[in-house]
Amino acid sequence: MIVEHENHFFMIIGLMLFCVLGVITTKAELIIPDVEDPALGLPSIELPEPLLFNRKVIKLGEKLFFDPFLSRDGTISCATCHVPDQGFAENGKPFSTGIDGKKGLRNAPTLLNIAYAQSMFVDGRSDTLEEQAWQPILAHDEMGNSSVNSVLKKLKNTKEYPRLFGQFFPEGGLNKKNLAVALSSFQRTLVSGNSDYDRWYYEGEDNAMNETAQRGYQLFAGQAQCWQCHSIAGPGVLFSDNLFHNTGVSHRSKSKGLAEDLGRYEFTKLEYDKRSFKTPTLRDVAKTSPYMHDGSLRTLEDVVRFYNDGGSDDPLLSPIIGTLNLSEEDIKDLVEFLKSLSGDYNYDRVKSDKL
Ligand code: HEC
Ligand code: HEC
Repeated sequence: MIVEHENHFFMIIGLMLFCVLGVITTKAELIIPDVEDPALGLPSIELPEPLLFNRKVIKLGEKLFFDPFLSRDGTISCATCHVPDQGFAENGKPFSTGIDGKKGLRNAPTLLNIAYAQSMFVDGRSDTLEEQAWQPILAHDEMGNSSVNSVLKKLKNTKEYPRLFGQFFPEGGLNKKNLAVALSSFQRTLVSGNSDYDRWYYEGEDNAMNETAQRGYQLFAGQAQCWQCHSIAGPGVLFSDNLFHNTGVSHRSKSKGLAEDLGRYEFTKLEYDKRSFKTPTLRDVAKTSPYMHDGSLRTLEDVVRFYNDGGSDDPLLSPIIGTLNLSEEDIKDLVEFLKSLSGDYNYDRVKSDKL
């Protein structure tokens, strides 16, 4: 009998150890999405170079993303402005502070679901993540380096970076392209789906979204016209048409004394692009206040009221934007719906994880 009790005792201890180890090892796992079926509500992910989307390259990209060494004076990393527990954006600040205390002119956007963006930056001036990666590293108000070569030279003088790049990139080792590939591969893992909305809409779970949010959805997809730009059709959606529109934000901000931002025009120089901006995804939007390219609207309610009033009197305002005649209750419903778009992605960095 005693023996049996002892057996139970050891079994229980064993089970407890197993659980504890289980927790530790699952914590240590970097989440790498299945590109064919990343999460409920999301389409598949297209990879420019599938062979380089592997654990080692991704971990190297993660290391670079968090390393302030990448900035001229070792003070700013990508994560300074794209903060993991603030939806990979920066909460509460219209503008982030880069090197030497310099402030930029645009609000840091979320990097969640950036794998799906068809162009980068609010004006779409880069086509891909790979093309985008060097811009913050070189921007005088972000990481402040004088040239690509100066950064590569600095990294080549470290003990680990040449070794890691040499191992993980048989072609080229530590060079301009591979650094961009590593950063991009990491960013493509930041996939966030399976929101309350997704479970309600795609799985038919009636209770996943409350009635307020359900009414908000009806408005979003109807009277309030939001769907016209924040697209919702398809088996997986990002709530963006990936196009550029003038919603009147820039004109409004200028009238309030902020510097004028010409948006897409800065890149194309086409008159009709003046003050147009990329339609952002609305997934995880509740995590990334303040809103719009210049962070000029503080809350989701402010955003909905802005649309309800018909944007601003910008002469180039999109013809889709106009007063909406929403009631106070409608406004609450829409806000509640936007809140139901937060996905279940939870970034948990394991600093001790060796490469
Ligand atoms: C000083 C703050 C700051 C730092 C540091 C910074 N970013 Fe950004 N990031 C921004 C801002 C602001 C924007 C929007 C600028 C624009 O659209 O013109 C942006 C835009 C982006 C975008 C485009 C997002 C979209 O929706 O189009 C990506 C991708 C990105 N950053 C990745 C990075 C990476 C990778 C690093 C590090 C190498 C980095 N950022 C460093 C502030 C920063
Ligand atoms: C004509 C196209 C269009 C329509 C219609 C539209 N939006 Fe937008 N939305 C945009 C664009 C473009 C931006 C970015 C504007 C900027 O940065 O200045 C944006 C930004 C937003 C943002 C801020 C996101 C962020 O991360 O900063 C929210 C929230 C939003 N829209 C919700 C809505 C809702 C709710 C509706 C319906 C009431 C709506 N939109 C209708 C194009 C549109």
